[in-house]
Amino acid sequence: MAAPLFLVPCDPLVPRLPDEHYAREAVAARDAGLAVAVVDHDAIVAGDLREALRRVPDSDVERTAWYRGWMLSSSAYSRLGAALEARGLRLLTGPADYRAAHELPGWYDTFAASTPASAWLPWEPGRTPTSADVGPLIEALGGGPAGGPGVVKDYVKSRKHEWDEACFVPDLADTEAATRVIARMVELQGDDLAGGIVVRVFEQFAPDDGGRAQEVRVWWVGGAPVLVTPHPDAGAGGAAEVPAEVLDAVGASVRALGAPFVTTDLAPRTDGAWRVIEVGDGQVSDLPGGQEPGVLVEALAGVSVPGPA
Ligand SMILES: Nc1ncnc2c1ncn2[C@@H]1O[C@H](COP(=O)(O)OP(=O)(O)O)[C@@H](O)[C@H]1O
Ligand SMILES: [Mg+2]
Repeated sequence: MAAPLFLVPCDPLVPRLPDEHYAREAVAARDAGLAVAVVDHDAIVAGDLREALRRVPDSDVERTAWYRGWMLSSSAYSRLGAALEARGLRLLTGPADYRAAHELPGWYDTFAASTPASAWLPWEPGRTPTSADVGPLIEALGGGPAGGPGVVKDYVKSRKHEWDEACFVPDLADTEAATRVIARMVELQGDDLAGGIVVRVFEQFAPDDGGRAQEVRVWWVGGAPVLVTPHPDAGAGGAAEVPAEVLDAVGASVRALGAPFVTTDLAPRTDGAWRVIEVGDGQVSDLPGGQEPGVLVEALAGVSVPGPA
């Protein structure tokens, strides 16, 4: 079968070229023997798939494709997948696998032993939660009125840059205070609120020099750890090492999840235990700015994921 096609977002100003953010990966993909085509991210989001795929070549033989680009909602990814199918192109990460890796409720059970305890509630963008909504959600976190600090986010993203206002809950037993933080998170996410509300038990991660968790991103292709990078937010000198036994344990969960291209953000707690902070679909996970993309793209070029029988 032909090598997968490598789809990247186009530059909004020069639409025949890859967006600058993905230009190095596009070059690396060509170097690895992949054909590269651009898709129009804004048109995908707007639901205009004809326009979005205008520059994707037609193919007579069935071909597979990777997407590497800006995050898409699970429903937008699904529409992209369907429009590509109509052109004889099958995304190697199918829509169900994308959702499973991209949204916390999709991966949580598989990683439950190695990630902070979490509870969630489907929620519509723009609707303001009250304590009557939040109380039962927090109770679901520990089977009772869980006390102690917590962290809130939607199914995909947090408002970590508005930590005190819209991310961190000092005491989950204080339902009114938790409701204020969650309501602010929902408000700030606006129309981008993904799926619903997630509440997580806060765990104490070992801080780096800047006080951040020492988060390391592991990139998994076909269930194998092909690249370990600092978290993109860590800046220069971020940690990029994970003990082998941690990789083995997390790898078992990644393989159980089944999605073919996944990232896991891992960090050590102050007690030394390594934890999974979040899982992501590898296609929409950011590489740190200084990271050479060759190794990753070569792994993607070599993958052959069995299709439906
Ligand atoms: N349960 C938790 N306990 C302590 N810190 C957390 C917890 N969850 C997230 N964090 C901190 O908040 C940051 C953002 O959370 P994360 O789930 O990665 O959201 P985002 O998708 O916005 O990156 C993490 O990088 C980590 O430092
Ligand atoms: Mg994160």
